[in-house]
Formats: sequence, structure tokens, C-alpha cells
Amino acid sequence: MSTAHNNANLGDIAKTVLMPGDPLRAKHIAETYLTDFVQFNAVRGMYGYTGDYKGKRISVMASGMGMPSMGIYSYELFKEYGVENIIRIGSAGAYTKDLHLFDLVLADSCWSESTFALAQAGIEGNIQYPSQDLNETIKKAAAKLEIPVLEKRIHSSDVFYHEANVPDHNDFYREHGCVCVEMESYALFHNAKILGKNAACLLTISDSLVTDEHASAMERQTSFSQMMEVALEAAIM
Ligand code: ADE
Repeated sequence: MSTAHNNANLGDIAKTVLMPGDPLRAKHIAETYLTDFVQFNAVRGMYGYTGDYKGKRISVMASGMGMPSMGIYSYELFKEYGVENIIRIGSAGAYTKDLHLFDLVLADSCWSESTFALAQAGIEGNIQYPSQDLNETIKKAAAKLEIPVLEKRIHSSDVFYHEANVPDHNDFYREHGCVCVEMESYALFHNAKILGKNAACLLTISDSLVTDEHASAMERQTSFSQMMEVALEAAIM
């Protein structure tokens, strides 16, 4: 068995999948943290691996960037491969000066201008929610590792580069309460909801739209390891 976008056979993928956006980050996570891992997908370079973390079987697979890409891969994982939990791990741009580079944010909800839920299932509305149970598990994992995590509403955006005549980060913060921006959780949370599965989104602040700061490649590597450790710990709880 395989799908249009995934070479894996049924049984190749664990019940819980960590999903970074970047395929090379998925590879890095497998090589750094998993033992006895096997690559189950390379179609379109969207790498996926299953292995053991502290003796428990988990998978890691990239989502690519944006709602359509996350929409395809998460749908197939949930619907065709028996995946129960997806924890997105990604980067985000801060919308408030209260957030600093490398802070960890756990989405308690996401607001989006995306039409993904409307197009996919005729569902209107701009807000999607993660699994409360999965969020509780992630908070427990973070507390165990003594890594601070802020649980906040995020913006799940369809657009990275905006022209100047449209709402900007101040509007999304003031009008919708979004503290940072990423581009995938609205589609992920929607797919989980319609398929009766669990999803969560844990983010590291990599840049600030308020101060224009950006993490260097080296800094990203180190800071992302905290997020990965929290997600890995949550995945085996
Ligand atoms: N992910 C990380 N930084 C981002 C930004 N500024 N906009 C959208 N997604 C992001």
C-alpha cells in the first residue's frame, strides 16, 4: 500500500508523528534522537522516519510549508496510516515584543484567514483548536524537562510576504489576539477534527516582526533542540 504522496506501507508509521516543516529537520531528528530508525518516505523529498525514542516507537515526517502541503500529508497520515496524534514542531515569527527569540509557544488555538476548512469540508470560521489532551501532555513533558512553554493563540497564515496595504502583525495581535505567526496549524487542526484524531502545535520563535530580530542558523539549531526534546518526551508519555 502507498498513497499519492507517501511510499509507506500500512504499519510503517507509529501512532504518534512529530511533524517539522522542513524535511531535513525530520532527517536530523531521526539521526539525532531515534535508534533503529527506518526511512518510510522520500516521495517529493518529504522525508519520514520511524524509530525508537527511549524504547518507544515514534515517527517523524515533514509537512512542507503552508496549509495545502500540511493538509495533504496530515490527511493521509490520519486517514490511511492509522496515525492518532500529530505534533507539529515549527518556527514562528513574534507579533509582540513580549515574545523573544527562542521562546516556546504552544498553540491553544489558531486564527486564520485561510479557506482550508471551508474548501475541504464546507466549515466556516476562522478559529481551529488543538487537542486539549495532547496540549496537557506537552505541558507535562515541558514541566518535567523544566523548559518554559507559553500557551497562546497563534496566527496560521496563508501568506509569508505581504504588501503594505493589508492588515499587518499589529492588527492580527490587537484584533485576533495572535502572539505569533506560522503557516500550517489551521489545516492540521481541521484535519484532526474532521477525522476524529489529535493534533497540537509547538513552536520556537525564530524571528520578530516587531523588532526585526532573526535567529542565526546556529542559534536555531540549539534552540530548536529544546522544542524537539519536549515534543519527543510528550510523544512517549
Ligand atoms: N515562521 C517563522 N517565521 C515566520 C514568519 N515571519 N511568518 C510566517 N511563518 C513564519
